[in-house]
Amino acid sequence: MKTIIEPFKIKSVEPLRFTSRRQREAILKNAGYNLFGIHADDVLIDLLTDSGTTAMSARQWGGMIEGDEAYAGSKSFYLLEKKVNDLTGFRHIIPTHQGRAAERILFNITGGTGKIIPNNTHFDTTRANIEESGAKAIDLLPPEATVPSRHSDFKGNMDLSALKELLEKYGPERIPVVMLTVTNNSNAGQPVSMENIHQTAELAKNYGIPFFLDACRFAENAYFIKLREPGYANKSVAQIAREMFSYADGCTMSGKKDGLVNMGGFLAVNDDDLAQKARNILVVTEGFPTYGGLAGHDLQAFALGLDEVIEEDYLKYRIRSIAYLGEHLTELGVPIFQPPGGHAIYIDAAAFLPHIPAHEFPGQALACKLYIDGGIRSCEIGSVMFGKTDSASGIFEPATLEMVRLAIPRRVYTKSHIDYVVECVAGVFRKREKIKGMQIVYEQPVLRHFTAIFKPL
Ligand SMILES: Cc1ncc(COP(=O)(O)O)c(C=O)c1O
Repeated sequence: MKTIIEPFKIKSVEPLRFTSRRQREAILKNAGYNLFGIHADDVLIDLLTDSGTTAMSARQWGGMIEGDEAYAGSKSFYLLEKKVNDLTGFRHIIPTHQGRAAERILFNITGGTGKIIPNNTHFDTTRANIEESGAKAIDLLPPEATVPSRHSDFKGNMDLSALKELLEKYGPERIPVVMLTVTNNSNAGQPVSMENIHQTAELAKNYGIPFFLDACRFAENAYFIKLREPGYANKSVAQIAREMFSYADGCTMSGKKDGLVNMGGFLAVNDDDLAQKARNILVVTEGFPTYGGLAGHDLQAFALGLDEVIEEDYLKYRIRSIAYLGEHLTELGVPIFQPPGGHAIYIDAAAFLPHIPAHEFPGQALACKLYIDGGIRSCEIGSVMFGKTDSASGIFEPATLEMVRLAIPRRVYTKSHIDYVVECVAGVFRKREKIKGMQIVYEQPVLRHFTAIFKPL
C-alpha cells in the first residue's frame, strides 16, 4: 500500500473550540500580538511547538499508575536509567524537569566568563544558559545550509572548517565543550549526518575537549540518517542512535520531544567528576538524584516513551507527515525552508512577505495573520527571537533567517487538520501584499519573544 497511515487509533479525544475571526482579532490584541500570550483554549490548531505537546500512548498512561513515587531509589528512575543507558551507552543519567535544566547544570559547571561554546546552532535556551554563565555561544553552520530554497540532505551539519579554526584559535583553555544539536531545531529541524557527528567528535577529541549532543530529537535525526546516508538503510534506528551517542561524551536531552512525554529531561555523561558536580547542583536546584525535577510517574512515562520513539512505523509516519505539509505548501508556491525537516515546516517569512523589512518582523506579522485567519498558532523564529537592538547605539542586528515555524505535536493531529493548515496558509499567501509589519513596544532583555508586546504598523 502506498498510503502511510497514523500507526495508532484514537482512544480518547479532546474537543477543539471554534472561535470567530472577530473574537480572534480581540484575543490577539489583548495578548499584545504575542501568540505566547493567548490561552490555548482560544487556539484551534496549536503548532506553537512540538515540545511537551505529545499525545502519550495507552501504555504510557498505564505506566504512570505504576510510577514509583519513592523519594530515594524510585524503581521508575532505575527503569529510565536502564533505557537511557541501553540507548546511549552513557554511564551517569541525571534526571531534570526539562532540557534547559540539564543545560543550566552543564554550563554552570563548564561555562563562565571568557569561555566559548560552539554548536551547529544553539537553541534559544541553550544560548541563554551559556550567556547567563558569562560564556559566549557561537553558531557554526556552513553559510549554504542557511539558504532556505537550497535542497540538501544534511543542512543541520556543523561547519567543520570553521570549528577547526575556532578550536585552533582558542583551544581547550577557552572552549570547555563542543555541542552539536540533532536535529538542528534553529536551522529548520534539519538533520546532522553520522559522518558530521563523527568528524565533529574527532575534532573535539584532537583538542582534548568534551563533545556533547543536544539530543532532543535524536530519533528523528537517526531516522533521517537511515533514509539518506549511505550504509545505514539496513540498520535499526536503535543501532543508528547508539552509534550517534557513541561519539559523544554526554548529552543534554529534553524528553518533551523524542521522549514522547509532556515533561522531562536529563543530562547524561560518562565523566565521573562531572557527574558528581552535576548531582551536587541537581540536589539543590531540581531534586534528589533519583528523581531530579520529576515525579515518579513522569520518569515511568519517559522510560516507555523512549521505547516507542524508536519504532520505525512511528518514525515513518512522523517524518512523512511533516513532508506532506511541506510538499503541499511548496505546490502552492509558498516559500518554505527546504527540504522539510523532522518536526516542523518553517515558512520563509522574508520571501513570503518581501515588502516587510527584518526590523518590522515579517515572521511575527505572518504568525499573527495565520491566527486571525484560521486560529492557527505558530511560532516566529526570526528577528523577534534572535535579533537584537543595541541599547546604546540603537543599531538593529537582524537574525540570519526570518521564519515562521509550524511545529507538529507528536501523534496529536490527523491528516485533515494538516489539510486545514494548508488551506489557511494558502489563503494568507494569496493576500500577502496586504499584510503589514509589527513594532515591539515592550521587551525583556532575555528570551524576549516569550513576553514581548507588539503593535501592528
Ligand atoms: C534543540 C533544543 N534544545 C533544547 C531545548 C530545551 O528543552 P526544554 O524546552 O525541555 O527546556 C529545546 C526545546 O525546544 C530544543 O528544541
